[in-house]
Amino acid sequence: MSRTLKAVRGTRDLLPPETALWNRIEATARSVFARYNFGEIRTPIFEDTGLFARSVGEETDIVSKEMYTWEDRARAQSEKTQSLTLRPENTAGVVRAYIEHQLGETGQLQKLYYIGPQFRRERPQKGRYRQFSQIGAEVIGPPSAGSESPLRDAEVLEMLATLLDELGITGWTLELNSVGSAADRARYNETLRAALVPVVGQMCVDCQRRAITNPLRVLDCKVPADQPIIDKLPVIADSLDQASVAHFAAVTAALEAAGIPYTRNNRLVRGLDYYTRTTFEFTHGGLGAQNALLGGGRYDGLSEAIGGPRAPGIGFAMGEDRLVLTLQAQESAAPQVVVDAFIAPLGEEMNAAALALARELRRQGLRIELGDGSFRLKKSFEAADKTARRIVILGEDELQSGILTVKTFATGMQSKVSRAELAAYLSTTASE
Ligand code: HAM
Repeated sequence: MSRTLKAVRGTRDLLPPETALWNRIEATARSVFARYNFGEIRTPIFEDTGLFARSVGEETDIVSKEMYTWEDRARAQSEKTQSLTLRPENTAGVVRAYIEHQLGETGQLQKLYYIGPQFRRERPQKGRYRQFSQIGAEVIGPPSAGSESPLRDAEVLEMLATLLDELGITGWTLELNSVGSAADRARYNETLRAALVPVVGQMCVDCQRRAITNPLRVLDCKVPADQPIIDKLPVIADSLDQASVAHFAAVTAALEAAGIPYTRNNRLVRGLDYYTRTTFEFTHGGLGAQNALLGGGRYDGLSEAIGGPRAPGIGFAMGEDRLVLTLQAQESAAPQVVVDAFIAPLGEEMNAAALALARELRRQGLRIELGDGSFRLKKSFEAADKTARRIVILGEDELQSGILTVKTFATGMQSKVSRAELAAYLSTTASE
């Protein structure tokens, strides 16, 4: 017997009615992005592996162990064998596209958003999948367009607070930090390297490696036994230069003026190497271990790191799967989708007329479920009661007279309605 095939570990099928919630989240995000003048960008789902190695960073968990990478063999002499990777995140692709299409030449800030799947070979658990969806946005441009301004950071954070509010997500926390300029980070890395020498022997093997290659990544460690050691390490705030301190102070002042609450988290360095200055996460207690609803920050050197012009930027990505989990937990009983009417043809010879009636009503914007004339009336009623607010019965008499029988389930009321008035009647709520 052949083996039954299932969705691959860490991937999922999304089914109705849950997909309605996904669509609602995406529609809300698009409407908020439009109000802040963001336009949509769609980049390819796979890219040259080198793009992620040079942006996200070789030493990060993402690049060192979580990417889906393969050798794409040349199929013609004009092609070359290339290492390709399913995108683990979208910022690198957006910045690559910014460079490739010379978007900086416009002299304007580019405000771009994306919605789509990302891939990481992580250990699957609640809120963590190998294929997951991100809703993200990036603000990037030449410094002359104001791309370095702390106002941009504050505006992005204020937009996120608005978006979460409009989605109906309550009880989030904004955690904020500054990882400083590239020079600040280099200095902090040296401070950390020195501070790790006497303690690293008691830490996990990953930390022992990171302490040499990229000490900042030690702060990402999740091993419980290492946490008390990490808590005693020097904090990055003490390595920031004056310009970075002033930038961060301007971000927090603008947030306070806008009434956006935040807490400072000294350990928030984020698991990707491209960050400079502001880093942030919005967390939610209802999510358990994977509590980050979204993460982001500034990446002033990313464009240059992948061969582009100077183009500071800031952005974020929200885990759409985690937004869905949070909303499902909040809206304890998900409302069942109910259609306006179920059309029950009496006998198979009425099926064609029922299709014509359904077409007429749907074209007027009503949500209609179409039964089948082979059903006995009792079965039609049972099916209609589960999915629709009303049932419309269509037999030979109704077709001839143009007067239909409509039953409203909520009130039990049965009415005769003319075909001309049917759409208006079905649009009223049951209590009207
Ligand atoms: P990230 O923190 O790696 O940042 O991911 C952002 C969000 O994606 C996380 O906070 C989480 O909600 C969601 N996420 C990440 N991995 C998974 C997973 N395996 N399953 C489900 N959800 C997940 C970035 O990706 C950056 N590109 C964000 C950014 C944009 N920074 C600047 N611009």
